Amino acid sequence: MNRPNNNNSSGIGVKVSGLCKSFGGQEVLRGVDFEVRPGEIFVIMGPSGSGKTVLLKHLIGLEEPDAGEILINGEPIATSEIAAKYRMALVFQSGALLNSLTVGENVGLYLTEHRLKSTSEINRIVAEKLEDVGLKDAIDKMPADLSGGMIKRVAIARALVIEPQLILYDEPTSELDPVSSVNIGNEILELKQRTHVTSLVVSHDRDLAFGIADRIAVMVEGRIVTSGTPDEVKKINDPLVQNFLNADFKRAK
Ligand SMILES: Nc1ncnc2c1ncn2[C@@H]1O[C@H](COP(=O)(O)OP(=O)(O)O)[C@@H](O)[C@H]1O
Ligand SMILES: [Mg+2]
Repeated sequence: MNRPNNNNSSGIGVKVSGLCKSFGGQEVLRGVDFEVRPGEIFVIMGPSGSGKTVLLKHLIGLEEPDAGEILINGEPIATSEIAAKYRMALVFQSGALLNSLTVGENVGLYLTEHRLKSTSEINRIVAEKLEDVGLKDAIDKMPADLSGGMIKRVAIARALVIEPQLILYDEPTSELDPVSSVNIGNEILELKQRTHVTSLVVSHDRDLAFGIADRIAVMVEGRIVTSGTPDEVKKINDPLVQNFLNADFKRAK
């Protein structure tokens, strides 16, 4: 994450080529390739344990790849440089709010800690970002008093304070009921339309992926096995893809 004092939040493009990562002999990413275009919503779908979170950590420089590269706006960039050069925000799966701070303090934390703005300016930004996610009135609440959907929205508001060029969402609908999931999906769509930010979402939620994605990639066992528009992906005949997309209950007819 970096400097929030630039209001040009137009999205950046990301290209990942041949990304490999092992942990103690376990190959988690086995040559991941995909490209996210500026301003689009790209959803990487895959089952639990397929390496989605590990992939996102590479994009914000929290993990170093064993092999492969990450290009941002066409420029190869080492993970150590990414944070300094581009404004990227990761919305953590759990929300990762600090329980001892109010909603407003959580959203403003990055700005406060880095002393990037005056207190009154921070207050203004925090109120604006909470309003963006429909939570203006929750500013003084504690995280423990929020529903799961509200926690995810606060986590999005916190990401927005840096005016990101790329937002990474890790399982934005996990643990949410169906209505809250749709609301979060609509939030992601609205942000894209309003700010042209690039959105990379990883999720095992098929409804979310087909509901919001401009393009979808399916990740299985550390590789992207297909990508395309939602309609294209639905028609792919690959059994690995169909197994994941069509898994269903076996109720007697
Ligand atoms: N820091 C780590 N050390 C060892 N193994 C890890 C580490 N991070 C992730 N893994 C392993 O990598 C695999 C993929 O994890 P993850 O990216 O969290 O999957 P997903 O997000 O798709 O559910 C899992 O088997 C996990 O245990
Ligand atoms: Mg994960």
